[in-house]
Amino acid sequence: MKKWVVANWKMNGSQDLLNAYKNAFSNLDNLIVCPPFVYIDKFGINLGAQNVHHLPNGAYTGEISAQMLADVGINYCLVGHSERRQFFNESDDLVKAKAVQCQESGITPIICIGESLSDYLNGQTSQVLSQQLNNCFPSSLKFWIAYEPLWAIGTGKTPTMSEIAAVHDMLRSHLPNVVLLYGGSVSSANAAEIFTISNVNGVLVGGASLDIETITKIYDFA
Ligand code: 13P
Repeated sequence: MKKWVVANWKMNGSQDLLNAYKNAFSNLDNLIVCPPFVYIDKFGINLGAQNVHHLPNGAYTGEISAQMLADVGINYCLVGHSERRQFFNESDDLVKAKAVQCQESGITPIICIGESLSDYLNGQTSQVLSQQLNNCFPSSLKFWIAYEPLWAIGTGKTPTMSEIAAVHDMLRSHLPNVVLLYGGSVSSANAAEIFTISNVNGVLVGGASLDIETITKIYDFA
């Protein structure tokens, strides 16, 4: 079965990169691109948003609602990315509210969870993830999970393959039918091996998604 590749450009990229994606990847159903909002454009590529507001509408200058995302044909939205939690103080409650907004608008939320380096070093990974599972998840199971250890994001470090497998087995035991992604320093050097892990349904790629040759290689492994 094909694995998913979700490209999170974060606050990077350009119209040129969007065009390069369109040229390289037209009509693929297992690639989702999450560009910054100004490049959101549904032509030829599955698109996802990187963020959404937690309320349906109102006087919230500068914000974008799930209904608006749905209105322009967006099907997926990252919620609770660790950078949103860290730099914008997003709590588990807020993440849950965003996920519910997405679901009510027919958008699949991709809920991001992950442990810090100290949690990892102290052997607390499963406890932290279980707590996030309990706090962030809406009652409807129409969501995806991205497991992104905080210490693996943008560092070139990853857990071992058996650690990734163990976390995904644990997640699968709670969520038998939910798409599970791994993210954190995914590259063309490690993607093929990550894709062999049975409970990993795909990858969430940050930095490596900004180079069209690298993301093409990762996609080819999927
Ligand atoms: P990197 O792939 O740059 O480590 O980023 C991972 C990430 O945060 C994707 O959402």
